[in-house]
Amino acid sequence: MSSVLTVRGGVPLSGRISVRGAKNLVPKAMVAALLGDSPSVLRNVPEIKDVEVVTSLLQLHGVSVLKDPINGDLTLDPQNATTASSTEIDAHAGDSRIPILLCGPLIHAIGEAFIPDLGGCKIGDRPIDFHLNVLRQFGAVVEKRPGGIHISAPKGLQGAKISLPYPSVGATEQVLLSATKAEGITELIGAAVEPEIIDLIAVLQKMGAIINVQSERTIRIEGVKNLSGYLHRALPDRNETASWASAALVTRGDIFVEGAAQRDLMTFINTFRKVGGGMDIEEDGIRFYHPGGKLNPLVLETDVHPGFMTDWQQPLVVALSQAEGVSIVHETVYENRFGFTKALVRMGANIQLHRECLGSTPCRFGQRNFRHSAVISGPAPLRGADIDVPDLRGGFSHLIAALAATGTSRVTGIDVINRGYERFTEKLAALGADVDVSAGVARR
Ligand code: EPU
Repeated sequence: MSSVLTVRGGVPLSGRISVRGAKNLVPKAMVAALLGDSPSVLRNVPEIKDVEVVTSLLQLHGVSVLKDPINGDLTLDPQNATTASSTEIDAHAGDSRIPILLCGPLIHAIGEAFIPDLGGCKIGDRPIDFHLNVLRQFGAVVEKRPGGIHISAPKGLQGAKISLPYPSVGATEQVLLSATKAEGITELIGAAVEPEIIDLIAVLQKMGAIINVQSERTIRIEGVKNLSGYLHRALPDRNETASWASAALVTRGDIFVEGAAQRDLMTFINTFRKVGGGMDIEEDGIRFYHPGGKLNPLVLETDVHPGFMTDWQQPLVVALSQAEGVSIVHETVYENRFGFTKALVRMGANIQLHRECLGSTPCRFGQRNFRHSAVISGPAPLRGADIDVPDLRGGFSHLIAALAATGTSRVTGIDVINRGYERFTEKLAALGADVDVSAGVARR
């Protein structure tokens, strides 16, 4: 069962909302608490599904997770960490991909980990081969069991020289969370260096870890025997910020995103400016607005940080559907992140998908039959439609298309959007959107 959001489009979103801690950091900082031998305090925690999932998983493993009723800060105490039943782990893991990151910390804390078959957004195959290879290089034994995998390390985890075939965010985090308490030195070559990873390194350093981020995507970690708890304020969610920025453009609105931080959004800000968006960067946040007139088309490729982040792509494509001329977007991080355009085309957008790489960055998907390049011609008037949310960012994109469209849209599957956008229906209402949520219907 899932709620239905009815959207009566055509109202520019205007007003002030705030973003809190990043979805792509907070659950991982929670996992890191397992490595400590005293409690940790995490601040700026958003109320999103992934936080609930990790809370349940940690609690199942004996970690006490207390939420401050006033500000939502979490206190995580791992001192009674223990084994949990695989059936219960499976029941609580939901659709999240975070469970794979519990491997290293659980092995350090209790000697083993069970990881259920993973969910996550349907934006490609999303394999875990890098994770498993990393764990094996640390000396872990990985066994397939019904419903998931069991991981143990009879001799403990040993530091290793690891080279990633692609700068994967999750695999880099896997290395960090495993290596900090592994015996000896770990050198990671080909690491991802997203701001959320640097923030995770800050968390681990507060706990007592010794981690050097060197040039050329190399991270060197000297294992230590013990880590303590941390006190940390999570960095703000740059992906949610970019989504609201695109929403301001698409709806010809004006949104002040309180808590948005320029430093982690530089590539997005450059692109937003080239499209013709207006902005004021202030101390406590950023105002994004449509300045009137035409938006400009552009040629864009997604990439790992410091490139244009893949999570910014989907909302921006909706804005490009309203630009004057032809835009080209080459998705190089996920092979299947344009599925959401089908609903946009039904709503009136003019978007063609291509298998070829329409860009200059060599990409892993080129000759492999994946429709990973999009040609978008605009401006195309959007009209309301019935939409079922396909994934987190795709779902948000549908939502902003519906908000800009003429007529009424019925959006089902909105619980997926709650995975990464805190209280988004309340924020929409605060921005003046004409929306209401009605009780559940069975999902198609
Ligand atoms: N990959 C593999 N094998 C692996 C792991 C990754 O082939 O074992 C591939 C993926 O299939 C993908 C590429 O490597 O093609 C990059 O994946 P990465 O591991 O970097 O992604 P992730 O850690 O699973 C995180 C975010 C994503 C974000 C990506 C890229 C979290 C919980 N998720 O995923 O966020 O798109 O990094 O920056 O941190 C979202 O917020 O909507 C979202 C999907």
